[in-house]
Formats: sequence, structure tokens, C-alpha cells
Amino acid sequence: MRKPIIAANWKMNKTVQEGKSFSTLLPADTSLYQEVEVVICPPFTALQAVGEELKGKGIKLGGQNLYPMEKGAFTGEVSPLMLQDLGCTYVILGHSERRHLLGEKDEFINQKVKAAFAFDLLPILCLGETLEQRQKGATEEVCHQQLQGSLKDIEAQDVAQMVIAYEPVWAIGTGVHARPADAEKTIACLRQVISKEWGEEIGAAVRIQYGGSVKPENIREFMSCANIDGALVGGASLKADSFYQIVRGAREGSE
Ligand code: PGA
Repeated sequence: MRKPIIAANWKMNKTVQEGKSFSTLLPADTSLYQEVEVVICPPFTALQAVGEELKGKGIKLGGQNLYPMEKGAFTGEVSPLMLQDLGCTYVILGHSERRHLLGEKDEFINQKVKAAFAFDLLPILCLGETLEQRQKGATEEVCHQQLQGSLKDIEAQDVAQMVIAYEPVWAIGTGVHARPADAEKTIACLRQVISKEWGEEIGAAVRIQYGGSVKPENIREFMSCANIDGALVGGASLKADSFYQIVRGAREGSE
């Protein structure tokens, strides 16, 4: 039985003060957060403040990116050691905005995945097809390539611990979510690829989220799919109320 996991990706939103007030407004529902793992990924500038505010609530903290070196002359970058130092458990890697707006390729993402594990951070590895790729019928091929490229030479026990987020690019921030049955089909295929590459046990253990216009109204349907273990939430994670409703919906949907 895989534990559901809901992660908030705040992207480039919220000042320190806004991050703190979100954390105060989020109900201290520790029994819910024991059943559904909850991760908040604020911008780097608010990580420490939000982390302090969330202490004792049973909610985990994540970074939105890292640079694959411990330290050094990399102006403007943030290292895995720095994220670990602030108490992060997770780090989002390979998000489509970084792949498409900033040109990140699988090889570079693979270096980041390795750097994350080296500092005990669990990657939330994002992948997904563009609308054009989908229309060409290339969804599964694109996702397999991204998965294999980003996870090259990663050990089975590490794959079992991490999280994959299947996020069709056309569904991110558009209000148009994938049909749950379509997301389920792609995610089931990803699970098969993982089973083939790292073994059945790993394929059965790894948690795979859906992401792209997830809201309180649609989370239950995604969570009722056998292979979908949670969601990576952008827009609807910015308000404590809607995010809390998504976490509650995730519990109900997975029951
Ligand atoms: P969205 O973003 O929920 O606003 O579509 C999801 C994501 O980018 O992770």
C-alpha cells in the first residue's frame, strides 16, 4: 500500500510574510497529515520561515530546484547541502517550466537527481509531454525517454524512495486537467517501465503523482485511479483553504 502524497509547488510566488501566513492558516490536522504525506515547496527565500512555521505540524518541506554541486562559484544557484541545512526532505527536479523555459535536459536533471540523493533529499521528478507530442501520439515514448534519461544509473533502492510527478505540459496552469483515465494509463505505463528496469518490487513501491490543474473539485477522481498516488499542485496550492481541501480530498479519493 503506497501512502498518498500531495505536494505544493508555489513556484515564484509568496514573500516571507505571505508564506508564513499560509502556514498559520493551514489547519494543524496531524492525523490527516499522517495518512496523506504533505510537502510544501516554497521559493528558496521563504524556505526557512515557512519551515519554522510548519514545525510540529507533520508537514514536510521541499526545494523547487538545486544545482548539482555542494558549493562553489555558481552565482545565483542553490546547493543540495543548503536545502538539507534548511530541513528539506524533498526537492522538485525537472519541472516543465525548467525544461521548457530554461532549457534543462535529461542529462543535467540526472546530475541533479544524483546530487539530491547524495544529500539525503528525495527528488520529486517531473516529466510529461507537450500538446504537440500528445497530438502526434508520442506521449508514452516522450515520458519513457525523460524517465530513463533523468534516472540513468540510479540505484533501485533510491528509485523506490523517490516520487515521480507525471505532468502533461498542456495541463499545467491552464485550468484544463488531463482526463483521469488518460493520466492513469500513462502512469501505469511509467510504472511498468520502472518494473522492467529496476524490478517488480520497485515498480510497485514508487509513488507517482499526477500534476496539472489539480483542484479540490477533481482530486478525488485522480486519487481513485489505481496507479495515481497523489498530486503536485501549483495554482491551487497558493491558498491554504483550497490546498487543505485537496489534501482532504486525496484521503477520501484513495479510500
Ligand atoms: P498547476 O501547476 O497546478 O497550476 O497546473 C502544477 C505544476 O506546475 O506543478
